[in-house]
Amino acid sequence: MHTVTLIPGDGIGPEVSEATVRVVEASGIPIAWERVEAGSEVMHKYGTPVPDEVINAIIKNRIALKGPLATPIGTGFASANVTLRKRLNLFANVRPAKTIPGVKTRFENVDLIVIRENSEDLYSGLEHIVVPGVVESLKIITETACLRIGRFAFEYARRHERKKVTAVHKANIMKLADGLFLECLRRIARDYPEIEYQELIVDNTCMQLVTRPEQFDVMVMENLYGDIVSDLCAGLIGGLGLTASANIGEGDVAMFEAVHGTAPDIAGQNKANPIALILSAVLMLRHMGEMEAASRIERAVMAMLAEGKVRTRDLGGNASTTDICDAIIEKMH
Ligand code: NAI
Repeated sequence: MHTVTLIPGDGIGPEVSEATVRVVEASGIPIAWERVEAGSEVMHKYGTPVPDEVINAIIKNRIALKGPLATPIGTGFASANVTLRKRLNLFANVRPAKTIPGVKTRFENVDLIVIRENSEDLYSGLEHIVVPGVVESLKIITETACLRIGRFAFEYARRHERKKVTAVHKANIMKLADGLFLECLRRIARDYPEIEYQELIVDNTCMQLVTRPEQFDVMVMENLYGDIVSDLCAGLIGGLGLTASANIGEGDVAMFEAVHGTAPDIAGQNKANPIALILSAVLMLRHMGEMEAASRIERAVMAMLAEGKVRTRDLGGNASTTDICDAIIEKMH
């Protein structure tokens, strides 16, 4: 029996989490879900969006499945997501983007992985007003974090028999910060002679991604570029309703979540697409070594999407969250 910490989250979080729990349970894997609350509701009750109880539960169980958490823009409390990643030292964010048969997009052959450094860069939260009207935001880049994410990316490529790693940067402008990132990546690349290593400036990367995405395999980048580029990649395969992610830390602690946010415009209406979180649970099951259950769920999701009968609004249909969940479970039988 596995125990998994479940954070249902804000907005559409509880709806897509419930659908995901039902699908995982239907796969036959015995999981005890330990539910803990984080996010904006908790903030009102406890004065922090991430109470210690949440951190302790994840450290104890080592695995968490998380719904989206709301973060106020411009003012208010620090992002609960960034807090979770920092306090749990979840330094690597892994976001696969693979073409899904039956989901019409501009490209038919996307199969890439964005690996985003999760712990530093402009997300250090170090901002201050120098004088009124002038703000300084500090971008922190360390050798330790660059070597760690570089090693992770190449190990990932080797384990998954991937052929190429692209380091995405802006070292022509940020010569010291992104220069250090590249220097570390080059050092790591030498240990993996069987894997092609490429460097590409981030703006050119975006242009290449929307014209010839098939040239990319594993991509590794700092936090901010990773945040933006991974959403771009989500768009390449059909949008936020389909894109899963894993946050991996040291000592095998891992938290799995959809790339999308709380979707306040459709929250509480049984309209959200639960597939992104269901595919995040597939990544979670693989991480736990439950390969068969993971493949069963993934096959059922792909079969349902290929058939194209049951679709939520984001994919041009009018099915509900519950309809999608029922259709996936039916395909598993
Ligand atoms: P969002 O991802 O919540 O929504 C963007 C658009 O995509 C909306 O039109 C929404 O309806 C649609 N959408 C998103 N997920 C969907 C789904 N599963 N099914 C169908 N449609 C879906 O992004 P937004 O509006 O920028 O952020 C809203 C809140 O979510 C903010 O408070 C933000 O901080 C938070 N957020 C949390 C994340 C996390 O917990 N990992 C990630 C991104 C945003």
